[in-house]
Amino acid sequence: MSKQGSVAKLTSLDARESASKEDGPTILSTSRGTIIGNHPSVHDVLATLARVARSTCTVLVTGESGTGKELAVAALHDASPRSKKPLVAINCGAIPENLIESELFGHARGAFSGAHTARQGCVAAAEGGTLFLDEVGELPLSMQVKILRLLQQREYAPVGDSRAVRCDIRIVAATNRDLEAEVAAGRFREDLYYRLNVVHVHLPALRERGDDIEHLARYFLRTCAERMERPDVVDISPEAMAVLKAHDWPGNIRSLENAIERAVLLCDGACIGVDTLPAKVRRTTRKATVFAPLPESGIDLRSAVDEYENDMIRQALDRTQGNKNRASQLLGLNRTTLVEMLKRKGM
Ligand SMILES: Nc1ncnc2c1ncn2[C@@H]1O[C@H](COP(=O)(O)OP(=O)(O)OP(=O)(O)O)[C@@H](O)[C@H]1O
Ligand SMILES: [Mg+2]
Repeated sequence: MSKQGSVAKLTSLDARESASKEDGPTILSTSRGTIIGNHPSVHDVLATLARVARSTCTVLVTGESGTGKELAVAALHDASPRSKKPLVAINCGAIPENLIESELFGHARGAFSGAHTARQGCVAAAEGGTLFLDEVGELPLSMQVKILRLLQQREYAPVGDSRAVRCDIRIVAATNRDLEAEVAAGRFREDLYYRLNVVHVHLPALRERGDDIEHLARYFLRTCAERMERPDVVDISPEAMAVLKAHDWPGNIRSLENAIERAVLLCDGACIGVDTLPAKVRRTTRKATVFAPLPESGIDLRSAVDEYENDMIRQALDRTQGNKNRASQLLGLNRTTLVEMLKRKGM
């Protein structure tokens, strides 16, 4: 059973703490939610954020969808001297191209039809604080040049107003795209990429975070049970935990949270069982993605596949101390299929 860990302050974390802790995961409260993590890669992320929190340098946060980019930005803002001022987020991928400029920079009265009054934009709303450009990889090229000016000169012009307005903001950007590939493809300006990428923080995918799946699952169990007034649901069965750990979580922490919420809702005992987990989670276990190149001389495919199968089955049985139920879940098989394979292979 995972321990609960201690509540930390970002500013008290530093690089020396990047090893996993035995007394449980780090728990960090932010204005947008709580960060839980014990994997060294998460400690590295938090240590980097802590180191740069006091400056105004631009930070680029990358990571797959649902890995906690927004929480990381909140942690950075909260630990900065700007924390009493607003953190204003704009989702560059969710706003139609023709509206982004006025959303960001505001507009003058009469700037376009329907602009009956002047309106301030996100940059003005973030004055003294932090502007969070979420999904920055979706910015159209025409806006990228204006963001570059904002970064270089801390200056912008509201739509329909030629006067430059100065601002005091920290800019943080996030994306789940590979911006270097976007630059290579001509969809993202190279100069803007370098301006944004002064400090780079990468949030690891959940499947790379080892035991954090268990820490997070237990944390979500506690919070969901409380929120949904199900104090009777208190545990996760070893089989269900094995399934959670074997899944590859393409939707990362957001999907894990949803899966636990659903399981708490469907649970009719004290303990979340495999049957309450979404079918997709039960079915798709992590894919083995590392393959050796085909040797020049070729291979005997059938015996190679056989050897691979035997090795995976042995590992699954070792890890579950011979429990065929749990081993079959780790392998994405029915228990009966595993038993038949063991018999056929004489294992
Ligand atoms: N380390 C963490 N501990 C606990 N909860 C987390 C953690 N990271 C993320 N979450 C939760 O997972 C969900 C997704 O997090 P967040 O919105 O920050 O991800 P994101 O990377 O911005 O996703 P997207 O790319 O889809 O915008 C949120 O509900 C958040 O509270
Ligand atoms: Mg986000």
